[in-house]
Amino acid sequence: MHKKRILLLSIFLVLLLAISVGAEDRRVLQCRVLARDFMTELKGELKTAIRGGRTVKAISVCKKMAPELAARYSLPSGVQVGRISERWRNPENRPDRWEQKGLAIFEKRRLQGKTLAGMEYWQEIEVEGKRSFRYLRAIPTGSLCLRCHGENISRKLKKALQKSYPEDQAVGFRLGELRGAFTITLSP
Ligand code: HEC
Repeated sequence: MHKKRILLLSIFLVLLLAISVGAEDRRVLQCRVLARDFMTELKGELKTAIRGGRTVKAISVCKKMAPELAARYSLPSGVQVGRISERWRNPENRPDRWEQKGLAIFEKRRLQGKTLAGMEYWQEIEVEGKRSFRYLRAIPTGSLCLRCHGENISRKLKKALQKSYPEDQAVGFRLGELRGAFTITLSP
């Protein structure tokens, strides 16, 4: 009888574990899909805008499209999608404390020689009294990005950036450095 009870209890615990692991897996998968789709759309918009060397015009596309896309991906209730960086261009993209912790972990891993592409960090934490699932995905600096975030930005471009973003800190990046992260919060 006693043995049976222990067996039942352990079956119950394994089931509970399977359900909870399954839930986390589902949320990770959901975040991966959101981050991937958001990135693909943004890059598509950027590439189209930049075609033919119209980089200055592409700034206004970024300025308009990036927040618009983030808002669209955040339409389903309980989903919040965005981009953040320690060296932000748009002050709206300033990281909060949890995001700062994640970015520091990415930076540490990068300095240890790990590749940033596909690097992730997630945690279930309390956000405004609700248990929420938070996810970050590293954004590496690619060669296309250097035009507007690199060390040698043309004068014309610099001027245009200053006009739209007087507090811009998102310049001086080198190839392969951590540019920032996609940030996703799933709340119940
Ligand atoms: C045409 C210029 C341009 C290019 C090229 C460009 N960006 Fe940006 N980037 C911007 C602008 C403008 C913003 C601010 C958008 C906003 O207002 O939300 C921005 C913002 C960002 C942000 C959000 C954090 C912040 O600094 O506000 C990230 C992350 C980012 N860019 C990454 C990239 C990456 C990665 C690439 C290369 C794939 C890239 N950018 C290429 C102009 C550019």
